[in-house]
Amino acid sequence: MNIENITTVGVCGAGSMGAGIVQTAAQAGFQVKVVDVSEVVWARALKTITTSLERMLKKEKISEADMAAALARISFSTDVATLAGVPFIFEAVFESAEVKKELFGKLDAVCGDDVIYATNTSSLAITEMAALVKRPANFIGMHFFNPVPMMKLVEIIPGMQTVQATTDLALAMAEKIGKTSITCKDTPGFVVNRLLVPYMLDAVRLLEEGVASAADIDTAMKLGCGMPMGPLELQDYAGTDIGYHVGNIFYDYMKDARFAPPGLLRNMIKAGYLGRKTGKGFYDYSDK
Ligand code: CAA
Repeated sequence: MNIENITTVGVCGAGSMGAGIVQTAAQAGFQVKVVDVSEVVWARALKTITTSLERMLKKEKISEADMAAALARISFSTDVATLAGVPFIFEAVFESAEVKKELFGKLDAVCGDDVIYATNTSSLAITEMAALVKRPANFIGMHFFNPVPMMKLVEIIPGMQTVQATTDLALAMAEKIGKTSITCKDTPGFVVNRLLVPYMLDAVRLLEEGVASAADIDTAMKLGCGMPMGPLELQDYAGTDIGYHVGNIFYDYMKDARFAPPGLLRNMIKAGYLGRKTGKGFYDYSDK
């Protein structure tokens, strides 16, 4: 299969990462068929996509015609069968081996032999997930970053059975949708999260130890190191539960204390302080 022959892509999962992939692929000119189990999730995703495109319009990065064309290329269904015949499918469903297993079973039942599956997982092993599908040679990791329409990077992670043609196609796909890719081994965290997760958890440890306030920790990293967001601000942005969940998975796998979520973070999750999405995390967003 050649990237030039691909005009339609599929995206399974319309959460924040899935919605970002849908938008990015539609802006790159692909017809995008989206599948999620719920119309409610899709309504939220469409709002996220529209808001993101409007911000780009305001910043004069795109025209009104670009925005309308991108939205017109997107279609949604709750039925996986609508992806029959689609040559390239991004998977961005909930980070659970069970949920992914069920989805790939359904996809394998309707998709052709040449279909490429690109999973956006950040915490599950690619080789292990590839073992769930009929053709692991056509299976690869393509890990995007939040917010997907703004972040330029995609990590490309071949599994043990992935063939070179699949990797080449994933690299070409990343380029076609305007991303820069790096290739890395199938190890926990790949490159970015291997470095980012201990950094973010260390920031929580500093706060826990009373070394500095949340605002001062964030200011230190923004003004001292040129980070666009401080480590605590970033956790509120992505959802404190995400770092907690991912840290636990990596810790279980590597038994490296740097990945063990600190008690403060655990208590925040229990209290429902999940960051922006719940109105409270390291900061208060209740007035926004
Ligand atoms: N689409 C979506 N979100 C947008 C956007 C767009 N077109 N334009 C801006 N944003 C978001 C910002 O996050 C932020 O939200 P609020 O307005 O609600 O505060 C706001 O819009 C900021 O907009 P600005 O125009 O002021 O900001 P900016 O354009 O200069 O930069 C940013 C925004 C690119 C997100 C920048 O802050 C940044 O790079 N932050 C760090 C993000 C990061 O580190 N991401 C990686 C997370 S880790 C991860 O993703 C790993 C994983 O496994 C999931």
